[in-house]
Amino acid sequence: MSESSYGRLRIQMNKAFDIGVESLSRSGGAENGGLVPNHPSVQTGHNVHPSKFDASGRINVADGVVSGVVAAPGRSFGDTAKGGTFFLETFGCQMNDHDSEKVAGLLLSRGYRQVETPEAARMILYNTCSIREKAAQKVFSRLGEYRERGADKIIGVLGCVAQQEGQDIFKRAPWVSLVCGSASYRKLPEMLAELEAGNKRVTGLDNDTDETFETEITRRDNPWRAYLTIIEGCDKACAYCVVPHTRGPERSRGSESILREVRQLTELGYSEVQLLGQTVNSYVDPTARGMKFSDLLLEVAQVAGIRRVRFTTSHPRDFGADIVEAIDREPKLCDHIHLPVQSGSTKVLRAMARTYTREDYLEKIALIRGAKRPISITTDIIVGFPGETDADFEETLSMLDEAQYDGVFGFKYSPRPNTPSLALNDPIPEEVKGQRLAMIQEKQRVIQTARNLAMLGQELDVFVSNKSRRENQWSGHTTSNRVISFSSQERELLGSYVRVKVTDSGTGSLVGAHVLEITTGEWGG
Ligand code: 5AD
Ligand code: SF4
Repeated sequence: MSESSYGRLRIQMNKAFDIGVESLSRSGGAENGGLVPNHPSVQTGHNVHPSKFDASGRINVADGVVSGVVAAPGRSFGDTAKGGTFFLETFGCQMNDHDSEKVAGLLLSRGYRQVETPEAARMILYNTCSIREKAAQKVFSRLGEYRERGADKIIGVLGCVAQQEGQDIFKRAPWVSLVCGSASYRKLPEMLAELEAGNKRVTGLDNDTDETFETEITRRDNPWRAYLTIIEGCDKACAYCVVPHTRGPERSRGSESILREVRQLTELGYSEVQLLGQTVNSYVDPTARGMKFSDLLLEVAQVAGIRRVRFTTSHPRDFGADIVEAIDREPKLCDHIHLPVQSGSTKVLRAMARTYTREDYLEKIALIRGAKRPISITTDIIVGFPGETDADFEETLSMLDEAQYDGVFGFKYSPRPNTPSLALNDPIPEEVKGQRLAMIQEKQRVIQTARNLAMLGQELDVFVSNKSRRENQWSGHTTSNRVISFSSQERELLGSYVRVKVTDSGTGSLVGAHVLEITTGEWGG
């Protein structure tokens, strides 16, 4: 990293680090028993942090969080109407977080100014999640707040609820004037123009696009880890899942465009990138280069300035030995794989249309466990899928023993519109689902505590991203995506890679002490 870009990152460090980074160890989260709450799909609403704008509300490109070229603000809507201010709240997964970063970038490039409260905004946007019913309900309760107060505001619903509910949103909340699914974001400039022209019902609901959503600028929230979408949509058609409906078919982004963005990110000071996709490892380069996912991982790692490459979420069907071989070859590829199993029972997996059996999945686990260095594995589990018997559930519990996960995200089955399993109704009582979830959490708590305990005395490479209020206390992520708090006498560590010895451990956390600061070198972190 060049001195100047490091300096820029430092400026950013002093600003609030307010967003949830997916971690293996933060506590909280009702549905997963506090083990691993910051799952791609369980983050709850947070504001896109506005600290990256200068006083005039213009985007500040020099502070290391904006990628791409700032477009000349053409026709500036920001100068029209009542100030051109917007408030954007995001629900759901990292894909949504990242879409919001792109939407914010697009709005800023057109002269809008981002504000921190809905009250201060002329335009209120909710980027929504509909993976489970509760998430979708949250959006309608937010919208309800504007029944009376929304008259002088433009209210927009973006993302999965928009795609799922479509025009019905106007019926349920007539004060909404924009409904736009994620596959239509590239048409947002036209939709904004229509809104500003006074149109009260603007929609973008196509999901048959073969284009991905790329913007000239992306206003990134996380100063340490840059998200990059490499594949959008999903073709897997799991019986319970709304994503194929809400995000449309799989579209991979060209490898050159991905690598270009990675190079831009390093120029801005980023050394860690996380490649995103609902099924990230189903990536197939649509350009003449025809790169497969593992080749892309290796090329991203080659970009000068990159020290850590992460990727999420992997689908077991497309998970092959080549990915493990790439991780073996390239230390910059992080040793963490999120590999949702959903159920340990082949019968339930079949009903879920997951396209693999318990044995197939365990073969993938064996591949990962055969790697030259230990790789953390995390997973998602759905309990109470229609037809799941006690015996099926026992198989899910035994899967935890066999796979020895470092983190488990457990969910109660929630029937969703436009999904095949909706027709199966929801026969398993809420109470049984609750008991099964609690059993998963308890078993995983024991496994995870033991796995963390086994790390005592190990020295880990940590990317420091947080300074505690307590003196000499810092925290950051290991390459396996564990959060570790540690003590150090150093005065400034944010944004640096340090070596930390583990001195204590719990179910969801590690504690350590700084042993040696590495300032140069190309080790993988
Ligand atoms: N009910 C419960 N959990 C679900 N997930 C996806 N759809 C549903 C549903 N209808 C979970 C899966 C997926 C994670 C992102 O959310 O475990 O991997
Ligand atoms: Fe949903 Fe299955 Fe696609 Fe994952 S792979 S996004 S669970 S349909």
